[in-house]
Amino acid sequence: MVDTATDTSASADRIRASGDSEVATYLEIAERREPGQVLTPAPNAPESVVVLDYGSQFSMLIARRIREASVYSELIPWDTEPEKLNHLNVKGFVLSGGPASVYAEGAPQLPDWVVATGLPILGICYGMQLLAHKLGGSVEPATSREFGHAILEVGEASSDLFHELPGSMPVWMSHGDRIERLPAGFRSIAQSQNAPIAAMADDAGHYGIQFHPEVVHTPQGDQVIRNFLFEVAGCAGDWTASSFVDESVEAIRKSVGDGKVICALSGGVDSAVAAALVHRAVGDQLTCIFVDNALLRLGEPERVVNTFREQMKINLLHVDARDRFMRELAEVTAPETKRVRIGETFIRVFEAEAQKLGQVDFIAQGTTYPDVIESASTGSNAAAKIKTHHNVGGLPKDMQFTLIEPLRNLFKDEVRRVGKELGLSDEMVYRQPFPGPGLAIRVIGEVTLDKLDVLRRADWIVMDEIKKADLYYDLWQSFAVLTNTATVGVQGDYRTYGHLIALRVVTAEDAMTADWARLPYDLLANISNRITNEVPEVNRVVYDITSKPPGTIEWE
Ligand code: XMP
Repeated sequence: MVDTATDTSASADRIRASGDSEVATYLEIAERREPGQVLTPAPNAPESVVVLDYGSQFSMLIARRIREASVYSELIPWDTEPEKLNHLNVKGFVLSGGPASVYAEGAPQLPDWVVATGLPILGICYGMQLLAHKLGGSVEPATSREFGHAILEVGEASSDLFHELPGSMPVWMSHGDRIERLPAGFRSIAQSQNAPIAAMADDAGHYGIQFHPEVVHTPQGDQVIRNFLFEVAGCAGDWTASSFVDESVEAIRKSVGDGKVICALSGGVDSAVAAALVHRAVGDQLTCIFVDNALLRLGEPERVVNTFREQMKINLLHVDARDRFMRELAEVTAPETKRVRIGETFIRVFEAEAQKLGQVDFIAQGTTYPDVIESASTGSNAAAKIKTHHNVGGLPKDMQFTLIEPLRNLFKDEVRRVGKELGLSDEMVYRQPFPGPGLAIRVIGEVTLDKLDVLRRADWIVMDEIKKADLYYDLWQSFAVLTNTATVGVQGDYRTYGHLIALRVVTAEDAMTADWARLPYDLLANISNRITNEVPEVNRVVYDITSKPPGTIEWE
């Protein structure tokens, strides 16, 4: 571990001795720094390493890799104010890659305050260039760009970053610019064929690497990240599902006091885990409200009531709001309008139910990290908005409850671990995700009761066959989509003009990327046969072979 206070001034002396005037700002900042001056973590704030987002498609993966090493991490826009980090005990920063060039007009910058904390910094790709640029080095367009696999030669000068790693290893590169001149106080610690300075370090815990350690194509990337966390930043690595539960329970208790909480229960993993967590924190102060919005899968309402009311002994209200949702969705065809209408109606139904419960102060929801990022509500101006996930963007502005989102910073696999920690069954915790707007975004075009009925029966067959084939838990999601295309068929010697069902079956690690599952042909044949036989309104079944990107998992 680096003693950053001492080493920063040692490094400053060296920089001063080099007489480089461009680094004056860095020196001033570093010397003005007093411990605790820049960041003031709240008591008991969890140890964390913050990823500053410069718009790379892999930014989120970096945070994920850090958490896999049991260190809590959040991805935040690069221009976030330091005051927004007081809920964290920051041990270091990672600067993500990004599409910009450091010299381009309006290129995202490395904020002064980050350097002024004196904490370790790991710049990845654009992040490395930014660090070099900020501290007085120079970055130029490379004569030949480097995309894809490369071999990294770790130099003689060993460094904590490459602790226990071989002298030569495969890495994944994706850069056009490269470091031409190191900032004073830095040394090159690795090279590749097209980047003589493929990694750099100073003695103050500042590191830059041109390759991407977060992607699977850098097989030893995990070790590089772990080295930064434990050898450089001195993290303890004690962030686990159980510490998360303890911290959350405490935080929920504190913010709820003796208030009343209702929870939007959909039957999916996320809301189930959120409910269980809030129940652990405040017990009977929680009432779960399960709204039948007419957009649920076959048998789902009965399953939810049984699990939560009978098994988990949680207060549960079962509200039949099917007519109201169908009225709101009448003639709506635009996916985003569906989401917003459903989100708003959801909350209105809650409000009505809540009134019956007397004073209700909070609403708990199972929003997870991918929901937040995909709705681009981290505030990062680098990420593009893909869809409004209804439990984030669709909330009405005049909502009367304070929102509790205990899973807001968790990836799906982390949500599952927390669910297990809370004692939920495998069946509940490992079930495939189901979107908040339900079947409405799987009926393409206008949603009607008839179409929902067709989709529900087809969807049930997909699930049944997938389970029988023992593939349910290996797949991220497997479901049917009712397209708004009618096709001609021949069924029982008659011409039919019926519905086209699309199968969407994907594998994924998290919902940020996905691939279509290579299902056995016989299984596809069974599903198709059963649907066209058992759901007579359907005369054709197709299989969606699109990965994400470019497609999304849901069709709308
Ligand atoms: P997409 O379709 O964006 O889906 O690739 C990624 C994951 O999110 C689920 N999904 C939603 N979940 N509200 C939700 O709660 C929504 O509006 C929503 N849209 C998509 C989807 O099922 C997949 O798991």
